[in-house]
Amino acid sequence: SKKAESKVPDKLIVGTNAEFPPFEYMNDKKQPEGFDIAMIKEIGKRMGKKVEIKNMEFKSLIGAMESDSINAIIAGMTKTEKREKAVDFSDSYYTTNQAIILKKDSKITKLAQLDGKKIGVQEGTTGDLISSGDKFGDGKKAKVLVKGAKVKRFKKGVDAVMDLKNGSVDAVVIDELTANEFVKKNAKKLKIVIDSAGSEYYCIALTKGNTAYKEEVNKQIKAIKEDGTYDKLKAKYIDS
Ligand code: ARG
Repeated sequence: SKKAESKVPDKLIVGTNAEFPPFEYMNDKKQPEGFDIAMIKEIGKRMGKKVEIKNMEFKSLIGAMESDSINAIIAGMTKTEKREKAVDFSDSYYTTNQAIILKKDSKITKLAQLDGKKIGVQEGTTGDLISSGDKFGDGKKAKVLVKGAKVKRFKKGVDAVMDLKNGSVDAVVIDELTANEFVKKNAKKLKIVIDSAGSEYYCIALTKGNTAYKEEVNKQIKAIKEDGTYDKLKAKYIDS
């Protein structure tokens, strides 16, 4: 594969999938908004660069970066060893877990109990990988958490939740904060169970091999955390 230039690009061309509240969603004006969007705009501003957001399917993001149609991804994307073969990851800006969304009366309390069950997931996410019996976790800690489930893949997590409501799937496996957002809207019918598959570290994916770019982005993440801007954005989008 070609070797990337180590140079900060003139413009941040950022891929996202705005189906993942509170990190990214479409606002009333049909524009991507959320914690991630605010973070990347702040990073771009501090770098003195324009930021262009391109909304696409989650499973298309890494390919779009490999073909150079974007040079950054911010999408609540968990750093994984497999993805790291195709992209570089910034320092982590958020740590979370997977959640299982269930009907209120479900007896399931653990990922291991999803054996033989129908699970709805957003295609290409870590929830998909875990449900599909992929090894989850890094290095020696990687293990299979869900065996023998029937996985139904959706372009949008919210559609998996619809299928759970109408009984077409038994569970949805998705990141905790997004699960909270979806369940809030269906509080009478649904509940959340956390069976920690291990921490997931959200990072910004950047063009592989572009060290200067990664260092600059990391510098800005650090500054945003240190001067209180991070907490302000978290209060606005996540803790509200
Ligand atoms: N953290 C999970 C992953 O990296 C899910 C991210 C989904 N993000 C989105 N914008 N739809 O696979």
